Amino acid sequence: MKEKLEAAKAVLEKHGQEQLLANYEKLSENDKDKLLDDILTIDFNQLEKLYEKRNFKQVYSEAEIEPISYVEKDKMSKEEREKYDEIGTKAIKAGKLAAVTMAGGQGTRLGHNGPKGTFDIGLESHKPIFELLCETLKLANEKYGVVIPWYIMTSKENNKDTVDFFEKNNYFGYPKGYIQFFKQGELPMVGEDGKVLLDEKGMIKQAADGHGGIFTSMRKDGVIYDMKARGIEWVFIGGVDNVLVKMVDPTLIGLAESKGILAAGKSVVKAGPHEKVGVFCKRNGRPSVIEYSEISKEMAEETDENGQLKYGESHILCNLFNIKEIEKISEKNLPYHSAHKKATYMNEKGEIVKGTEPNAYKFEAFLFDAFESLDDMVIMRVKREEEFAPVKNAEGVDSPETARKLYQDFWKTK
Ligand code: UTP
Repeated sequence: MKEKLEAAKAVLEKHGQEQLLANYEKLSENDKDKLLDDILTIDFNQLEKLYEKRNFKQVYSEAEIEPISYVEKDKMSKEEREKYDEIGTKAIKAGKLAAVTMAGGQGTRLGHNGPKGTFDIGLESHKPIFELLCETLKLANEKYGVVIPWYIMTSKENNKDTVDFFEKNNYFGYPKGYIQFFKQGELPMVGEDGKVLLDEKGMIKQAADGHGGIFTSMRKDGVIYDMKARGIEWVFIGGVDNVLVKMVDPTLIGLAESKGILAAGKSVVKAGPHEKVGVFCKRNGRPSVIEYSEISKEMAEETDENGQLKYGESHILCNLFNIKEIEKISEKNLPYHSAHKKATYMNEKGEIVKGTEPNAYKFEAFLFDAFESLDDMVIMRVKREEEFAPVKNAEGVDSPETARKLYQDFWKTK
């Protein structure tokens, strides 16, 4: 251990990160060892580069960005719709679809103590989000006479709580062999001054590395292998925090399959030019999502000949990929973006500092950065009130209250 400690000290000195050992003596022997292991495996060069670029905001010009074409589900002709539904239904019935729920986020805005999927949005039944999602899969299983494998991505931080919650609730009646959890990667958080933070226990403060981490995690945790062994061809990937997420959609599968395109995304119409959402577009000729912070005011407000926003297809984190594409993407590393977040950490004096304002940086990869490696992508516009009820904030927009109302209205009419 002495040698390890010396090696860790040398690394920290080289990178000006000596604060990480300031509370070392107070740790248990096991934690001391773990901390040293972490220090010796952290890529400090990568963190330094990410920190340097923390305030970098890209703004794109018209030359690089163009609108992407989309198909509106509601405006398909009867023949088209039947054709796509038939193709998609056949694939689902043949057991070729799997669903993935990304539940590795920290949910800091919601502020719920526990994984977001365990949150009760206040329905009369008090069913937690995981159960609401599970129910839609059960309905689909009944309808198509199959059991759709359900993969749930957690983070190191919330994996145990998530698995325990499913165990405690008897997997909400879903066949246990068809639910599989896998963990995404994480990266250390750094403070305003670029110093890596310690968590409340005095260990490295790590945070999930963004939903873009999904592809490499699927490969590393054997999820791709498992899917292939089960004969899966199409994989729906959605977030845990949309209580109307439609994971089983034959139209989307049929549309992609009939066009021979290996990836698809659902969009809803942007509520207004300045709604804070990312929108689908083409960037240098390839599918992409442009964030609200990256688009110029002019481009955000631009309309087409029908008066519709040119960049009006909001990305709602509802995507479908052919397994072949997932395999390809999983071989690449997606870029990291920085997010300024509130963090609670231990300072050099061993005191706990609770951030009431953003006080730290977290580095995240975005799932949609993967789109740029696709040759093409099918975008299907769906109705917001049928498929998008996000739970992001504790109050106001996209809160449990708005999601509950959308959920109730939708199921009332079913
Ligand atoms: P958000 O980007 O809304 O982040 O995630 P969040 O962590 O849930 O919430 P805030 O920003 O801290 O308040 C959108 C979806 O992506 C998943 C989330 O669980 C959610 O379903 N996600 C996000 C991950 O699975 N891993 C991540 O590292 C980040």
